[in-house]
Amino acid sequence: MKKKIVIGNWKMNFQMDEAINFIIDLKEGLGDCTTVLCVPFPYLSLAQELVDDRIALGAQNVCQFEKGAYTGEISAGMLQSLGTEYVIVGHSERRGFFNETDAMVNTKVLLALKHDLCPIICIGENLAQRENNDFLNFLKNQLLEAFKNVDTQDLASCIVAYEPIWAIGTGKQANLAQIKEVHAFLKNELIVAFGELNAEKIQIIYGGSVKAAQAKELFSLPEVEGALVGSASLDAKEFTQIIKAS
Ligand code: PGA
Repeated sequence: MKKKIVIGNWKMNFQMDEAINFIIDLKEGLGDCTTVLCVPFPYLSLAQELVDDRIALGAQNVCQFEKGAYTGEISAGMLQSLGTEYVIVGHSERRGFFNETDAMVNTKVLLALKHDLCPIICIGENLAQRENNDFLNFLKNQLLEAFKNVDTQDLASCIVAYEPIWAIGTGKQANLAQIKEVHAFLKNELIVAFGELNAEKIQIIYGGSVKAAQAKELFSLPEVEGALVGSASLDAKEFTQIIKAS
């Protein structure tokens, strides 16, 4: 079994001093497990100086263009030059608040890979789609669109995060049966698309109200190869407990 990966997504939280204190606290609590912290852009270089090799850094977004006159944007090349290793792509908050389409997500995935970043590709259905029972088709489409033109040799660098929108920031984690069903479905779709050997290289993780209290249970599912953690990644103690449960 692959080593599980626990990824914290701070979103738009923390002033600089809070970010520094968090990383210092996290380092004190961590064992040997590797973990990823997706911090806001302005803190990436500072965080790079503070972390050790138990913590990898990620960005929360990347521009869909390579470089040039795109005021306010951050390119994959810039992230690479900072030593960033991961980038979240297609988070539902980006899709919802900033109108990111599947095509944009795909371009971002390709640019991330070109610049040696591991894309954490987020997909997830909303409540209406879940209740109408058409969520699996929707998820399949999001998944396959994100992986369009991805070279098979890059698949080992890709992570898929299943994040049901109705579970994000709501305190309402999907139940284990729901998570198991979707993860198995996504793995099967990846096998159909890329073949078993290639599909096995892609880690499928869960996100949506992951808390320390349910982490052991969540990680006991072999289909769950890690977690993307939002609000619980803002508390170093709780985040450490999640990492230790992995
Ligand atoms: P949450 O966020 O853990 O606060 O639900 C997860 C995410 O948005 O990645």
